[in-house]
Amino acid sequence: MAVFTVNGQRVETKKNQKLLRFLRDELHLTSVKDGCSEGACTVIIDGRTCKACVPDTDLLDGRNIITVEGLTEWEEKVYTYAYGKAGAVQCGFCIPGMVMCTKALLDVNKEPTDEEIKYALRNNYCRCTGYVKIIDAVRIAAKVMQEGTLPEEINNDWHIGSRVARIDVGEKVLGTGKYPDDFYLDGMLYGSALRSKYPRARVLSIDKTKALALPGVEAVVTAEDIPGENKIGHLKHDQYTLIPIGGITHYLGDAIALVAARDKETADKAAKLIQVEYEVLPHIHTIEEAAKPDAPKVFDEEENNICAYKHISRGNAAEAIKNSKYVISHHFETPWTEHAFLEPECAVSFYDEDGDVFVYSTDQSAHQTLHECSLVLGTDKVKVQNALVGGGFGGKEDMTVQHLSALLTYVTKKPVKMKLTRA
Ligand code: FES
Repeated sequence: MAVFTVNGQRVETKKNQKLLRFLRDELHLTSVKDGCSEGACTVIIDGRTCKACVPDTDLLDGRNIITVEGLTEWEEKVYTYAYGKAGAVQCGFCIPGMVMCTKALLDVNKEPTDEEIKYALRNNYCRCTGYVKIIDAVRIAAKVMQEGTLPEEINNDWHIGSRVARIDVGEKVLGTGKYPDDFYLDGMLYGSALRSKYPRARVLSIDKTKALALPGVEAVVTAEDIPGENKIGHLKHDQYTLIPIGGITHYLGDAIALVAARDKETADKAAKLIQVEYEVLPHIHTIEEAAKPDAPKVFDEEENNICAYKHISRGNAAEAIKNSKYVISHHFETPWTEHAFLEPECAVSFYDEDGDVFVYSTDQSAHQTLHECSLVLGTDKVKVQNALVGGGFGGKEDMTVQHLSALLTYVTKKPVKMKLTRA
């Protein structure tokens, strides 16, 4: 148990948990973002910045914690102005954490040097901005704090050539804008997936008895509970929502069963209690292995392991090479690049007043998500709305949790939050 203050209010917590979980799940201070140790959850504890995912609440007795929700009106105005003026806000997921670092610095150092600003921000990642504009924002905030007045109103004259702050700068700086994970709905359940133990194996049986017996578990869902199509995919319908009994897994990320429970810990615990019997099959590790004529097939139902074949021909390459002064031959490979958006994929779904399954998503193609959730549920009575998107860069085009959350809502008739971890 611990007693401490959050934004000037005395709070008491009996359950020992990470400060991040307490601030978000119990106090609903959703400016404190859960990006998983990326600095998006920075708060101020007794004047010093700290990632909220680090300290246990039991260790915080008597401490004083400030989040963006605890800024004074003047500070709100200054940081909104400075971050908007500098153009420092893009997806915004990192910004409340950056604002906390700015405040902690300017509270003790009225005229920081660029090196001091960089040092103050050093533990926070931003995937969108390249940091230059955030450093500019801190400089602007320092100057405004020194002068004591905002130099000008933000220009809202939206003509070509005029300079305006983006319209969502306020909600992103002050943390009032909602990403899917920021929705806490009444009676909301939490989803968890049991994923394949092997990259390639046949699922022989699934026993959900122990998981269903765990107090707090409301549903354990397998492929046979899917009312519509099991397979989805933007370009080709080859992505299984859940691997059925008799089906073959394609990679470690394939989901086999889903759990909906009253809290996240119970959902994760229940997923581990689902017992799956596998027949382990030869794995395929590389494209070269997959391309061999006798390679095992990744997808049982396909002729071979080729997803698509494209031949592009333009002009007469042989002729051009023959007439070139120099010819260089080399083997080129493109690298894997992880998009590394700061906001993990999350969806929140529920039945709305029209009796439709409504999905809040963090999505780069909400129309595709709508189409594919409708396929899985076998109904058009589905709505998808993008909440704020904490970065994507191409990495949030595919379905990850949206259809799983929608399916759990369909089965339980209750609001469900489903979120991937950073790992
Ligand atoms: Fe910093 Fe997107 S604006 S992560």
